[in-house]
Amino acid sequence: MSDILVHTEAGVSTLTIHRPDRKNSITSAMYGALHVALVAAQADASVRVVVIQGSETIFSAGNDIGDFLNTPPAGPDAPVFKFLHALAAFPKPVVAAVCGPAVGIGTTMLFHCDLVYAGDNAAFSMPFVNLGLCPEAASSLLVPQMMGYHRAAEALLLGEPFMAEAALEVGLVNRVVPPSEANGLAQAQARKLAAKPLSSLMQTKRLMKMGQQAQARKLAAKPLSSLVETKRLMKAGSQAEVLAHMATEGQSFGRMLQEPAAREAFGAFVEKRKPDFSKL
Ligand code: COA
Repeated sequence: MSDILVHTEAGVSTLTIHRPDRKNSITSAMYGALHVALVAAQADASVRVVVIQGSETIFSAGNDIGDFLNTPPAGPDAPVFKFLHALAAFPKPVVAAVCGPAVGIGTTMLFHCDLVYAGDNAAFSMPFVNLGLCPEAASSLLVPQMMGYHRAAEALLLGEPFMAEAALEVGLVNRVVPPSEANGLAQAQARKLAAKPLSSLMQTKRLMKMGQQAQARKLAAKPLSSLVETKRLMKAGSQAEVLAHMATEGQSFGRMLQEPAAREAFGAFVEKRKPDFSKL
């Protein structure tokens, strides 16, 4: 059985991360499957909404650490970056259900979902620094935007987990429910969305993403001719900013994966010991 299960019913395509023995950590092959599923969902007119979920006890332990060691993502065409790009640019609504740990990309992918429902056991963390890495998925842009700089610094520099209620407070999560209800709630909300006019949903999502970013508002206030202004605004749309930021992060992330701090962190994980960064 595949580690990514895809089930489409009543206009909702549900992608389930299912690799319980490795805590739903995600391999290159799984990113590939997620990317293929998103491309198919975008192209299929009968799919109106995508749901991403894990199980009641684990959303995802993040990137598979063995994969980081053996097949680190090489360049923008690596499956992880193709998945993130497809998710960030996905035009139809995406709903996530998160229970248990959501580590690394298990948290950062949520910044690109439209609705997030969490079990009260959800624990979000972005421990990139602890692994000798840097943020990905445009999280170094989006986390400060969502949480404010100081809370973002705590999440990204210390890499400590924050629980469902804290995620609700900063706006990462829409609602917190018992873990046994999270996937069902996400499914029910997705079905509500699937009954709405898709063109309005897609246009609303596009407009919200455009409206999100401050740069466009700054540009809009400048006395430029409307043609130049429109063109610049379109190019400066938040999606373009997010995708460009993601590419910049991706370059740093790829380089840092090969550096001594990350090698020490991954080696320590595999050998089940504490990493020693004292000489790095
Ligand atoms: N990559 C590969 N294997 C992983 C993994 C990962 N990211 N996360 C967990 N596993 C494996 C463990 O090595 C363990 O394997 P074993 O049974 O052969 O010893 C198995 O999954 C169970 O993990 P365990 O740590 O015992 O589960 P837990 O319930 O105590 O803790 C987590 C769950 C998610 C908190 C913990 O596994 C964890 O912190 N994982 C690493 C997360 C991480 O740093 N990800 C990278 C982010 S960029």
